[in-house]
Amino acid sequence: MTLTAVDASAWAELEAAAADPQSAFRYLNLCSVDAAGRPQARMVVLRGVDVARRLLEIHTDVRSPKWQEISAKPLVTLLGFGPQPKVQLRLQGSAELHGPASERAAEAWSLLPLSTRSTYMGGPPGDEIGDRPASEAAVTDADGQAFFGALIFRAETLDWFQLRHADNRRAVFAYDHLGALTSSRWVNP
Ligand SMILES: Cc1cc2nc3c(=O)[nH]c(=O)nc-3n(C[C@H](O)[C@H](O)[C@H](O)COP(=O)(O)O)c2cc1C
Repeated sequence: MTLTAVDASAWAELEAAAADPQSAFRYLNLCSVDAAGRPQARMVVLRGVDVARRLLEIHTDVRSPKWQEISAKPLVTLLGFGPQPKVQLRLQGSAELHGPASERAAEAWSLLPLSTRSTYMGGPPGDEIGDRPASEAAVTDADGQAFFGALIFRAETLDWFQLRHADNRRAVFAYDHLGALTSSRWVNP
């Protein structure tokens, strides 16, 4: 495979994952750094991909710790793994946060099914529930929308690693602000 083909296949996999819940890259590990400098990692669903601009869309609750962490330190890493073939995608870049009042979040919200919307209608993520029955509060759609945010990740680099029996392969790619490929090279795995 050529470097160009590796880059294209990685992004084609990501694009497919945004549309297919069964895809390996549907769930990515979003890594940020907290105020104390500790690395923080959590799984997120890949909701959308703009291949030309190298953008990935993720949805989250703006009350979650990650929202605060990322608004303070927008440099993040997204890590994904596909088992067949065994490929790791390690994307580094920066995140742009679109809060509940933004057009971007409003548009994304309008496309969500009620089942997904309801995941934003509970209490603040990470707060103790105690004895309170989860379904007691009368929540409405608008309550959920007030906590819904869209995170747009812009890839600056892709580190592609394929695990093979003997000859592992690794390639690194860089993109400019518009998403154009600016460098690609094979590196030692
Ligand atoms: C498979 C899977 C997918 C998840 N997808 C999301 C997601 O798309 N957005 C999100 O905010 N949390 C998602 N979560 C929950 C996060 O991993 C995390 O536990 C939660 O958002 C709190 O993260 P924080 O405390 O670092 O802010 C998902 C968890 C799992 C197991």
